[in-house]
Amino acid sequence: MTLPSYAMNQATFSEMYERWLVDPLFRPWAEMTFDELELSPGDRVLDIACGTGIVARVAKERLGDAGYIVGIDISSDMLAVARAVAPRIDWREGNASALPFRDGEQFDIVVCQQGMQFFPDKHAATAQMRRALAKGGRLAVATWRSDDEIPFVRELRRVAERHLGAIADQRYSFGDAAALEALLRDAGFHGVRSRTISRTIRFKDGAPFLRLNTMALVGMSAAGKDMGDQERKRVVEKVVSESAPALQPYSDGSGIAFELSTNLATARG
Ligand SMILES: C[S@@+](CC[C@H](N)C(=O)[O-])C[C@H]1O[C@@H](n2cnc3c(N)ncnc32)[C@H](O)[C@@H]1O
Repeated sequence: MTLPSYAMNQATFSEMYERWLVDPLFRPWAEMTFDELELSPGDRVLDIACGTGIVARVAKERLGDAGYIVGIDISSDMLAVARAVAPRIDWREGNASALPFRDGEQFDIVVCQQGMQFFPDKHAATAQMRRALAKGGRLAVATWRSDDEIPFVRELRRVAERHLGAIADQRYSFGDAAALEALLRDAGFHGVRSRTISRTIRFKDGAPFLRLNTMALVGMSAAGKDMGDQERKRVVEKVVSESAPALQPYSDGSGIAFELSTNLATARG
C-alpha cells in the first residue's frame, strides 16, 4: 500500500494499515519468502522498508531470540506501530538509499517486501542492499506485478479515475521482473532469479480494504494532491460508494477474495 502524504500525516493511517491490511495482504508473502530462504538459528536479518514490520516479525517468530533482526523504514508513523507491536525488535528510521548501519554491520538475510517500487533512487537502494549483505548471504525483493495484470485492483483504479483522471499507481509501478533482475545484477548480486507468484487474498470485511485503497488512489492522483482535506474526503466517499459494483464479483458471502501477483527476486551476496 502506498502511503499518500496526507494519510501519512494522520496518526491513524499506519494503525489502519496494521489493523486491516497486514495479516490478509502482507503476512502471507512474508511467510512464503522465509519458507524459500530457510532461516537458520543465529541469522542476522534486515527488513528494508519494513513498514509496521511484518517481515521482521515473521523472522522473529521463526528465529526467536536466536536471531539479530533489524527493521528500517523512512516513516516514523509506520515505525511507531512497529515498535508498539514488537518492542524487542531493533527498529530504525532511515532511507533505503542511505541505510543507517552500525560500524561494520552486515546481515545474512536482507528482505525488501513491496518497498522497492517507492524508492526514487533504486540503484542507490540496491547498492545499499549489496553493502548490507554478508558474503554468501541471501537477498529477497518482492514487488507487485503491474495493476494492468490484476483485474480487481485495475477495476478499482478505473472507478477512481472517473473522478481523478489517469492515476499512475506507484504500488504497481515496478512490475517488470526483467528490470528488477537487471537492477540486482547491476549492483553485483550473484545467482539472481525471479518468479511470479499469485495467490488468493481474502478479507473478511472488504470495506476497510476498499477505503484504504481509495485513500491511496486519491492521494496518488495529481488531482488529489491539489485538493484540500474536505474535498479529498468527499471524493474518497464518492469513489468508495461507486466502487461497490466492482467489489460485487469478488464477494463470496464471507468477505472478498481476489488474485494478487508479485515478483519475488532472490540473489546471493
Ligand atoms: C507497502 S509498504 C510495505 C511495508 C512492509 N514491507 C510490508 O510488507 O508490510 C511500503 C513501505 O516503504 C516505505 N518507504 C517508502 N520509501 C522509502 C524509502 N526511501 N526508504 C525507506 N522506506 C521507504 C514506506 O514508508 C512504507 O512503510
